[in-house]
Amino acid sequence: AIALLNSYSGIAGMTTGFVLQNNLLIVAGSLVGASGIILTQIMCKAMNRSLANVLFGGLQAQAAAAAGKDEGYTKVKSTSAEEVAAVLDAATSVIFVPGYGMAVAQAQHKVRELATLLQKKGCNVRYAIHPVAGRMPGHMNILLAEADVPYEQLYELDRINDDFKNTAVVIVRGANDGCNPAATRDPASPIAGMPVLAVWDARTVIVVKRSLSAGYSGIKNELFQMDNSLMLFADAKKALEDVIAELKAL
Ligand code: TAP
Repeated sequence: AIALLNSYSGIAGMTTGFVLQNNLLIVAGSLVGASGIILTQIMCKAMNRSLANVLFGGLQAQAAAAAGKDEGYTKVKSTSAEEVAAVLDAATSVIFVPGYGMAVAQAQHKVRELATLLQKKGCNVRYAIHPVAGRMPGHMNILLAEADVPYEQLYELDRINDDFKNTAVVIVRGANDGCNPAATRDPASPIAGMPVLAVWDARTVIVVKRSLSAGYSGIKNELFQMDNSLMLFADAKKALEDVIAELKAL
């Protein structure tokens, strides 16, 4: 929606350029307008949703959230920073999956610190970036770049999805919809058909979030109660600080 509004500002600038007969304004406005429309189309494709659904889907999300309130989770396994540190200490490959919660907690620097610690132990560390993770295009890339995460460690969904099955540990930090198996398994789900990160294929999945509450789409995530999932209930930054301290103490 923001990309679309951005493109309208370009179109307005271009139209003004025609009225004022200013070529620079026409060219600049056209570029902003066209790039905004292209970005809008890319983001809609990444979510497998129509533009109308993106613009007016908020109402559906609320309805889905209301409908999902009674669906309890029955077999969630919660874990501790100490246990996560022990799992990571033995891991040879780790993939971090950042989401909106990492942005809320401003946990990107702690993620980098943990990744550096793991790399020193000989672990292969990578980051899987969902195309619509966070709340704006490139949200995760910007935050991770701010924390000096090497660009070559960032993998887009298409490049990394087949690698989860060869990975020891996946750490999902403040992400939810971007790794919800309902998108591929439940045709009635509001996110059916949206490409998702197949984190559940890894040997162990550690999900760091504060509660079992839903993400942007407002729906339940079966990932939280899969056999290989462990939930670390905490603010993403605090959780990572604790895991780093435990890992250093090992
Ligand atoms: P979401 O599915 O929105 O989930 C974010 C999760 O972060 C929540 O479940 C929340 O759980 C957790 N969280 C919030 N604050 C936290 C904190 N301080 N520490 C730890 N966890 C925290 O995020 P996602 O996986 O990034 O998916 C993005 C969603 O946003 C998609 O549905 C996408 O369609 C939508 N969207 C994206 C964009 C763009 S362009 N990227 C724009 C608009 C909408 P708790 O409350 O339990 O902690």
